[in-house]
Amino acid sequence: MLQLKVVALILIWWSINGVEDAVAAPDAHLVNMGCSSFNASDLRSFFANINETFSDMREEIRNQSKHFGTVQKARGEVLTYTMFQCRNYLSKNDCLSCFNTATTQIRNCSGGNGARVIYDSCFLRYESNRFYDQTNEIGSGVSCGNISSTVPDFKVAGEQALMDLQTATPKTRDFYAATKTLVAGGSAVYAVAQCVETATAINCQNCMQVGYNNLQSCLPNTEGRAYDAGCFMRYSTTPFFADNQTIDIAPYLKKGNSNKKWAIIGGVVGGVVLLLLLFAWRMSRKRNKVPRGDILGATELKGPVNYKYNDLKAATKNFSAENKLGEGGFGDVYKGTLKNGKVVAVKKLVFGKSSNMEDNFEGEVKLISNVHHRNLVRLLGCCSKSQERILVYEYMANKSLDKFLFGNKKGSLNWKQRSDIILGTARGLAYLHEEFHVSIIHRDIKTANILLNDDLQPKIADFGLARLLPEDRSHLSTKFAGTLGYTAPEYAMHGQLSEKADTYSYGIVVLEIVSGQKSTDVKDDEDGEYLLRRAWKLHERGLYLELVDNAIDPNEYEVEEVKKIIEIALLCTQASASTRPTMSEVVMLLKSKSLMEHLQPTMPVFVETNMIPRESNSTSSSNATVSISIPSAR
Ligand SMILES: *[C@@H]1O[C@H](CO)[C@@H](O)[C@H](O)[C@H]1NC(C)=O
Ligand SMILES: *[C@@H]1O[C@H](CO)[C@@H](O)[C@H](O)[C@H]1NC(C)=O
Ligand SMILES: *[C@@H]1O[C@H](CO)[C@@H](O)[C@H](O)[C@H]1NC(C)=O
Ligand SMILES: *[C@@H]1O[C@H](CO)[C@@H](O)[C@H](O)[C@H]1NC(C)=O
Ligand SMILES: *[C@@H]1O[C@H](CO)[C@@H](O)[C@H](O)[C@H]1NC(C)=O
Ligand SMILES: *[C@@H]1O[C@H](CO)[C@@H](O)[C@H](O)[C@H]1NC(C)=O
Repeated sequence: MLQLKVVALILIWWSINGVEDAVAAPDAHLVNMGCSSFNASDLRSFFANINETFSDMREEIRNQSKHFGTVQKARGEVLTYTMFQCRNYLSKNDCLSCFNTATTQIRNCSGGNGARVIYDSCFLRYESNRFYDQTNEIGSGVSCGNISSTVPDFKVAGEQALMDLQTATPKTRDFYAATKTLVAGGSAVYAVAQCVETATAINCQNCMQVGYNNLQSCLPNTEGRAYDAGCFMRYSTTPFFADNQTIDIAPYLKKGNSNKKWAIIGGVVGGVVLLLLLFAWRMSRKRNKVPRGDILGATELKGPVNYKYNDLKAATKNFSAENKLGEGGFGDVYKGTLKNGKVVAVKKLVFGKSSNMEDNFEGEVKLISNVHHRNLVRLLGCCSKSQERILVYEYMANKSLDKFLFGNKKGSLNWKQRSDIILGTARGLAYLHEEFHVSIIHRDIKTANILLNDDLQPKIADFGLARLLPEDRSHLSTKFAGTLGYTAPEYAMHGQLSEKADTYSYGIVVLEIVSGQKSTDVKDDEDGEYLLRRAWKLHERGLYLELVDNAIDPNEYEVEEVKKIIEIALLCTQASASTRPTMSEVVMLLKSKSLMEHLQPTMPVFVETNMIPRESNSTSSSNATVSISIPSAR
C-alpha cells in the first residue's frame, strides 16, 4: 500500500514540477524536469561533485565533440552519477549551448540528490546511484502539440514514420535515427528517436515501444515528444534538423534478418557455434557415464549449474503448496528433490517486469555462485525459462532463525547456541563485505534471512539478490531492498547504501537474538518501547540482564558477556554510519574478552516511522515526510 502511495506522490509531484513552456530558443524547449525531494547527505561534497562533473562534461563536449557522456564522482560517502546527451543532429556549439542551459536549469534542484532536465535538444540527469542502464521507469511521459494537422492522411503517415523509428533505432550502432517522411499534399514529418548509449538493445527497444505508444496519442497533432529515463522520441511537421541530416533506416526495416552482411556472418558464426556445441555435447556424453542431465556445455562445469525447468518442476512436484518452504522478499521457496536424490531449495524469483534483471541475471548468478563460506548459503545454480527466473540453493533442514526466536520453536535456543549464531553471522557478513573480491552489500539482513543448519550454525541467505532488483525507480532515492525495523536510517531516508547499512541491520538482529523480542514489536509489560529504544535505555541504566530472553537459563551466561554483546549491537546501530564498526571489527570485538573503554556506543536515532505505527499512538505528523520513504513490508 505504502508503495502505491509513494508512486502516487511521485506522480503528483512530477506533474507539479513538469515544466511545459520555458521556451527560450526553439530547441531549448524544456520538456520535463524533476528534482529529488531528498537532499544529499553532505551538501558541500555534493556541490563539489556536481561542479566538477559539469566542468568535465563541458570539456568532453567542447574538446571531443561528444554527444553523450557519463561522469561519476565520489567524495566521502557522497556519490554522484551524471549523464548527458545531445540529439545527434546538433552541432558541437548547439550541443554545448543546450548543456549550459541544462546545467543552469538543473541547479534549481539545489541540494536534491537526484535531478533531471529534458529538452528537445538534450537531457541531463544525476543521481546518487548508478542508473545508466535504466530505460523505462516512473516519470515517462508525453507532451503533444496543440494544433491538429489538416492533412487528411497525416495520422497514418505519422504512425508509419514513428513505427519505423521504433523498429530501427535499437538496431543502429549509436541508438539514434532521424527521418523525414513525405505526406500526401506536399508536407512532411520530421522525427528523431534516441536511446542512451549505455542501454542494451533490448532495453532500448522496450523504451521505444513505450514512447511509440505514447506518441500515437499525439497524432494527428502536428508535433509531439515522448520521454523516458533512457530514450526520447519527437516528431514535428516543422523541420528541426536539416534534410541532409536524416539517417537511412531502410536496412534496419527489412523483413527477416535486416542486414545481409550480418546475416552471412551470423550464419558462419552460428555454424561454428553449432559444431562446437555438438562437439561439447558428445564429449560430455562420453565423460558422463552416470546421467547428470542438468549441465549444459563443457565450459559451465565449474560455474553454476543450469537446471532444466522441467527437472525443477518435477523436483518440487510442480511447485506444489506442500513443498513450499516459505515466502521470501524475492519470491517463494520450495523444497525440491532432484533425480539424483539430492535435496535442494528452489527459489522462484518475482521481479515483475524488470528489464534490468534480464541483462544482469546470468552474470550475477555466476558471481553469487562463487561465494563460498560456511556462514553463507551456497547457490548451486539457476534456471531461466522465458519470464521465469529460478535459483537453486543448498537445503537447510532447520529453516530460518526467526522460527527459533518468534515462531514455533520460540525459546528453544540456549545462550551458547545464540552466541554462536551471533558470531557466525558476523563472519559471513565480514566475508561478503571485505573478503570476497567484489564487495557485496546484503541490504536485507534480518532473522528470516539467517538459516540454521543441522548443527544450528547460521548461514546467511539471499545475498546478492538485491543487485538484481531494478535500479532506483524514482527520485525517491532509495532503490529500497530493506525490511521494516531492520533498515539503517540513512538508507531508509536518503538511500545511502554502504556496508554499514548491513552492520546496522546486524545490530538489530543481535538484539533480537538476545532478547527474543521482534524489532518491530512493543513489549507490553514494560513502558511500551520498541526493541532498539528499550535496549538503549537499559544500557544507559546499566541493566543489561533485563534485556535477555526469559527463556534462557540464567546460569548459562555471565553479565559481562551479555553486556559486551549488547554494547556491540549498540555500536552497530549508531546513528552515524561512519562510526559503526566494520563487520570484521565486529568479529574481533565478539572474540575479545570485553570492549575497550573508548568504544562506547553513541545514541541511535529512533526512526519510529521505520516501524509499524501503533494504532493507539498516532505518529506525529511531522514525521509524515519520513514515512513516505518506507516501502511496505515484505
Ligand atoms: C559550484 O558552482 C556554483 C556555481 O558555479 C558555485 O556557486 C558554488 O560555490 C560551487 N560550489 C562548490 C562547492 O564548488
Ligand atoms: C580542452 O580545451 C581547453 C581549451 O580549449 C584546454 O584548456 C583543455 O586543456 C583541453 N582539455 C583536454 C583534455 O584536451
Ligand atoms: C530556475 O532558476 C532560474 C534562474 O537560474 C529561474 O529564472 C527560473 O525561474 C527557475 N525555474 C524554476 C522552474 O524554478
Ligand atoms: C536542502 O538543501 C537546500 C540548500 O541547498 C536548503 O535550502 C533546503 O532547506 C534543504 N532542504 C531540506 C529538506 O533539508
Ligand atoms: C498552443 O500552444 C502555444 C504554446 O506552445 C500557445 O502559444 C498557443 O496559444 C496554443 N494554441 C492553442 C490554440 O491553444
Ligand atoms: C547540409 O545542408 C546544409 C544546408 O542546409 C549545408 O550547410 C551543409 O553543409 C550540409 N551538410 C552536409 C554534410 O552536406
